[in-house]
Amino acid sequence: MNDILTIAMPKGRIFEEAAALLRKAGYKLPPEFDDSRKLIIDVPEENLRFILSKPMDVATYVEHGVADIGIAGKDVLLEEERDVYELLDLKISGCYLAVAGLPDTKMNDVAPRVATKYPNVAEAYFREQGEQVEIIKLNGSIELAPLIGLSDRIVDIVSTGRTMRENGLVEYERIVDVTSRLIVNPVSYRMRDTQIDELVSRLHEVVSVGEL
Ligand code: PRP
Repeated sequence: MNDILTIAMPKGRIFEEAAALLRKAGYKLPPEFDDSRKLIIDVPEENLRFILSKPMDVATYVEHGVADIGIAGKDVLLEEERDVYELLDLKISGCYLAVAGLPDTKMNDVAPRVATKYPNVAEAYFREQGEQVEIIKLNGSIELAPLIGLSDRIVDIVSTGRTMRENGLVEYERIVDVTSRLIVNPVSYRMRDTQIDELVSRLHEVVSVGEL
């Protein structure tokens, strides 16, 4: 059996922290790893292949088994509910999902509208609150929605809070804290548990040290 492990990893904000974590765990990643436009990067010295994708797609690749392992935000895992195992909280890229909107505004009594990139999370959240809302799915720049009258509220990621601040929005409720997780395809895990456990334990060691 070929012993290359394929890891799906998001480009963007998680990428740098995840690469730093892998290096701390002793994996030698080449410099081209950090600023390349390549979507597949092989690191044969470590028996690793990386697939670089959009954050929302990482769990999809892992569920379909085209990647054995993935590094994905808890936000994506909550939204997508893919058939994958979550093995480790990597404690990187900390942020949270929140409900936000223009200051001093109430939600419309009749069919309030909520814009978000996370329709399932938002739907479940407002259902639990006993509020019936219309979800409007957007793909980015969610903060625009209340500014242009598309929605009363948004459900979105808050990291530094800068995007909300600079667009004059305020936070109304915090929904859930988010960090990046190591996920695995269940079949890969069964077939290659030794190899995967080694990766998990090396990462676990550096994650625990970071906590001290
Ligand atoms: C995310 C999120 C917010 C922003 C929050 O967007 O949707 O817009 O980051 O970060 P902050 O609190 O540090 O300002 P992202 O940059 O991923 O792009 P998007 O607009 O395409 O979702």
